[in-house]
Amino acid sequence: MDSTFSALRINPHRLQSNFAALSAIGATPEGGVNRPALNTAHLEARQWFRQRAMEAGLDFRVDSAGNHSALLTCTDPAAPTLLLGSHLDSVPNGGRFDGALGVLAALEVLCTVKDFGLTLPVNLEAIDFTDEEGTLVGLLGSAALAGHLTPQDLQSPRGGRDALLDGLACAGLTETGLLAARRDPATLAGYLELHIEQGPRLIQVGADIGVVTAIVGIASHRLAFTGRADHAGTTPMPDRLDAAQGAAAFTLAVRQMVMDEFPECVANVGALHLEPGAFNIVPARAVLALECRSADPSIFDPLEAALLERARLEAERFGLGLEIEFLGKHAPAPMSALAQQAITEAAEALDLRHIPLASGAGHDAQSLAPLCPAGMIFVPSVGGASHAPREFTEWQDCINGANVLLHAALRIGLHIS
Ligand code: GLV
Ligand code: MN
Ligand code: MN
Repeated sequence: MDSTFSALRINPHRLQSNFAALSAIGATPEGGVNRPALNTAHLEARQWFRQRAMEAGLDFRVDSAGNHSALLTCTDPAAPTLLLGSHLDSVPNGGRFDGALGVLAALEVLCTVKDFGLTLPVNLEAIDFTDEEGTLVGLLGSAALAGHLTPQDLQSPRGGRDALLDGLACAGLTETGLLAARRDPATLAGYLELHIEQGPRLIQVGADIGVVTAIVGIASHRLAFTGRADHAGTTPMPDRLDAAQGAAAFTLAVRQMVMDEFPECVANVGALHLEPGAFNIVPARAVLALECRSADPSIFDPLEAALLERARLEAERFGLGLEIEFLGKHAPAPMSALAQQAITEAAEALDLRHIPLASGAGHDAQSLAPLCPAGMIFVPSVGGASHAPREFTEWQDCINGANVLLHAALRIGLHIS
């Protein structure tokens, strides 16, 4: 690579001061942030991002899906755009790094290229996608941009229809706008995202950088085991149609089944609600939130089918009914060879130890993967912790990741010409 480019580094002080300022928005007493999509703190964080980008002399745009973008355009009006980004929303009571690091590093790359007066043959865009975390729908802004979003996705979102409508109203967004946010893939040169690993592997093997090979597919269902409310004191045990028994047996079976039959996959029962919900009433209804994940497209559908079949069997075993509500699915996504190569070369040029690894978490990059060369860079998560306030990445690792993002972006950007 040209020596003008190879000596380039991001400004770690500016990145750190931006990180501190952003972390204060929606800060929780436990040291994390609470910025579920389109809540007040999340909207404030987006406002902060806009302000920061404009102060840096960048252009700014918000699309009809609410995706917020800082822009560094090049002189060629026909040039494609290289997207860099992640998300500013968090899970409820989440950590400071998930998503935020990727958006701030993207902004930092644009500022660095601008500071050094470099001319690239691509536009650079630092993008903050709407509702990555799935408080409302999940990968909402990126799916809208990719043109994958369907009216059905908005009818039965996993966070509930009312929450979605309330959030959209607070942010001044509409369903029509979401469904019209598609970008022409011919205008996109690629997508790169820096993210914390959210797992223990990089630290276990002493690597600085993960070159992501693929992102898991995620399927979400709400299951309701239905029985009959009865007096909890007078109804003999064998006569009960106890919905809690079906839900409990299923929850235990999920773990065993995945470990025995789908060892590369995971599944989670993340919420369980009993109705009517009293000490002295046999539960008539047990509603649970089921999610399953696999990075392997040939296993993903069989995994989902096997879990639902197991729910039917457990319902039958306890004489219960079963209602299954499908709440959305994101396909497993391999990352592009071009992006993986650019990230690997960038890590090598920066003398950083790197390994290939698949992502067990969902990311906006999986929405972009079918459209353009998409890739992800992981940096180590201390203790593998994430989606919790104790989520932490050493500052040097954040800087390393941002420099790899910069150099991978330069490689892809220059490759276009
Ligand atoms: C998002 O971070 C997810 O993997 O659920
Ligand atoms: Mn994330
Ligand atoms: Mn997350």
